[in-house]
Amino acid sequence: MFADAKPVPPDAILGLSIAYAADTRSDKIDLGVGVYRTIEGQTPVMAAVKKAEGFVLENQDSKRYTPPEGAPGFTDRILKLVFDENSPTIQMGRAAAVQAPGGCGALRLAADLLKRFGAKTISTGAPTWANHKPLMGAAGYEIKMLPYYDAASSSIDFDAYVSAVKKLGPDDVLLIHNCCHNPTGADLTEAQIDILADMAKEQKFFPLIDAAYHGFAKNLDADAYMIRKFAETVPETLITYSCSKNFGLYRERVGALIVVSENAERATAIKSHALNIARANYSMPPAHGGAIVSEILGSDDLTKMWREELDAMASEVRGNRKLLVAEAEKAGLGNRLSYIADQHGMFSLLPLSDEEVLKIRVDHGVYIVGGGRINMCGVNHTNVERLVAAFKAVSQG
Ligand code: LMR
Repeated sequence: MFADAKPVPPDAILGLSIAYAADTRSDKIDLGVGVYRTIEGQTPVMAAVKKAEGFVLENQDSKRYTPPEGAPGFTDRILKLVFDENSPTIQMGRAAAVQAPGGCGALRLAADLLKRFGAKTISTGAPTWANHKPLMGAAGYEIKMLPYYDAASSSIDFDAYVSAVKKLGPDDVLLIHNCCHNPTGADLTEAQIDILADMAKEQKFFPLIDAAYHGFAKNLDADAYMIRKFAETVPETLITYSCSKNFGLYRERVGALIVVSENAERATAIKSHALNIARANYSMPPAHGGAIVSEILGSDDLTKMWREELDAMASEVRGNRKLLVAEAEKAGLGNRLSYIADQHGMFSLLPLSDEEVLKIRVDHGVYIVGGGRINMCGVNHTNVERLVAAFKAVSQG
């Protein structure tokens, strides 16, 4: 059966972490995988998570199967967090959710669901997260790339994006990054989101919103703008939600597929299809991470603690952005990297070719994802000078 099997190349993002770990240089800099890190390079368990986890473990009296939709309370609490419990979407029962194994699991569920109901194409703005293509590809879709980020101006070419989106119709899906665009950090403004939501309503294309960094751009409410706007404007949308970054639960694989539909009856029906697809794939999500999130969101004290920790992480990353821009100016790069201060979330693109990305890794021990993506969490006052010097040394223009 497998006589002809040849190894596939390592994953573009996860493979970089392995290469970084194997590098023995003490001054290496990790700007790879999208994981929050302290200045010491640690990714600590959040205090609210530790507390909730203690409670979960203490009170756990069985390892029997969890309900297919996830840990008790998880879906209701995630929905209230995302939409606000007084929103018409929640009040009318238009939203339903199933817990999924991380944002990846939610995306795969969404893709299978869209396939089951006959969606013909999935498009997204270029460039996009490296794993979107394989995830959608596994469900039989070849993602169509639309113009989005203009590398020359380091900003969104909204006119070009809108012109491409104008061609989408009822059988087409538009995959949109909620906030903290991965890999560019270039987010749509609220006014641009409004335009896009109106286009979705008029043209009837299907919005699929990938929300992997809720709370990492501005704050939890501001970062829910796109989701809430689309839910109010169009009859149906799907949201793939990840708790990896905002709860720091990366390895627990906890996320959700959120369904918004015209009415409660339809939402329940779509949810049943998502559960049916999950059953044929992994049966049910792992319980532990969902139980932790449910515990946090079910307690006012833990929620407050968690929100403060999340805000602190997000604000630190914003500080790192300013630090890099200031250092670049100091090093004589003028305003070449100044766009980075205005972008959002963990990532931005450095203007580097793939050859330069390789060179900066080999010559300077700076680990950057292909295409020039840097994780701003890895930039700090102990390494920013070396980073900028390495960037200057390898970049041509
Ligand atoms: C990233 O983009 O680095 C993260 O979302 C981790 C991953 O799975 O790729």
